[in-house]
Amino acid sequence: MIESPRKFEGFGSINIFDLIRVLEIDTLGYKGFGEVFTANKDLLIDYATRTAIVIPVKDEELLTLEGVISAIPHVSLVIVVSASSREPVDRYADEVDLVRSIHRNTRRGIIILHQQDPVWGEALKGTSLEKMISGGKVRSGKGEGMILGILTAAAFGYKYVGFIDSDNYVPGSAYEYAMIYYSGFLMSESKYAMIRIKWPYKGKLASSDIYLRKRGRVSSITESILNYALSLYRKYETDIIKTANSGEHALTIDLALKMKWSGGFAVEPYELVNLIEMCYLGLEDGDCPIISDKIKIYQIESRNPHIHAERGDEHIADMLNFSLGTIYHSKLGLDQVKERIRKALEEYGIRDEPPRPRIYDLSDLEPTKVLEKIISISSDVHYFEPK
Ligand code: GDD
Repeated sequence: MIESPRKFEGFGSINIFDLIRVLEIDTLGYKGFGEVFTANKDLLIDYATRTAIVIPVKDEELLTLEGVISAIPHVSLVIVVSASSREPVDRYADEVDLVRSIHRNTRRGIIILHQQDPVWGEALKGTSLEKMISGGKVRSGKGEGMILGILTAAAFGYKYVGFIDSDNYVPGSAYEYAMIYYSGFLMSESKYAMIRIKWPYKGKLASSDIYLRKRGRVSSITESILNYALSLYRKYETDIIKTANSGEHALTIDLALKMKWSGGFAVEPYELVNLIEMCYLGLEDGDCPIISDKIKIYQIESRNPHIHAERGDEHIADMLNFSLGTIYHSKLGLDQVKERIRKALEEYGIRDEPPRPRIYDLSDLEPTKVLEKIISISSDVHYFEPK
């Protein structure tokens, strides 16, 4: 049960809805009185069946990955996109064994593939994603892994794709994210929808002293600068963006294939910056060249906290640099905005300009053809069919 969306702000053809909260994780026994959004179980099953959940993984603890997979409702396809090491220890081989044993027990549908499998490099040569290849292989980076996940979901005919990180220690959170995705798509009734999760609290499992933050360090800076940039442009102050770096988010395949993507940790803020650039800045309402319909972006706060792996300050500074680079180098990067970005980065010891995002275009790809090629020649892609 979710609060009914009330307020949204329009930016050209994009409607960004203000944050709404999950009110009950399960509506078992609900008779239907409140002004809330609830979905009946059959409808949710229908949406779950048409959703693929992509789990990016890079050298995570196997038990954590297993917990996340166990949380994804049975009828959704799980796509594990791994960038884990192959040597000196072949951690990918362990992940494949794990997935095989999960399938043996549950018979659920799962695909596991390796991001640096040279077959992807071959298959993407000559396409608009050629930029994603370096030395014959797909570049490493979370965004690049997510793009392979989108192509796989599209090739298998899924209508919706959601992302859930593999370093989530609480399977209950991952389950709630998946249920929020299905409910969000049902609620949106839109071909071009995106559901972005805000966790109520976030903590890292570094020591016994867990401190539950309401907002992540990178997210709070990216959000305040993105809101500032939008406010300057529109000349109406806004604080509508509350999920700038949301790793946990989902979107319709129709939207995923039309918008542009970025690599590494620039991926999540760039999704918003790209849609704003393509469908709002300098355009009349309804003039978005890639999508004639409304794009609806929902921001939904889960009940479970997000407890994940600790990576250290350098990782945070890196993520911030890539995130702010997406705004800095966009049409939103007015002088005052650039100044704020430089100040924010200086606090993390970064004095150079943030990096320009690597931008990828999926619009001319034929996912089915790409996947057919990959599955027929790769020995590293494993598809375990649902039974
Ligand atoms: N396939 C693939 N390829 N997976 C990767 C790669 C890669 O190159 N790099 C990281 N991952 C996986 C990790 O194993 C993890 O499951 C997930 O992507 C997120 O990576 P982390 O390194 O744990 O990122 P984080 O937890 O600091 O940041 C997360 O949350 C941010 C918002 O708070 C990420 O999801 C960010 O993208 C997000 O902005």
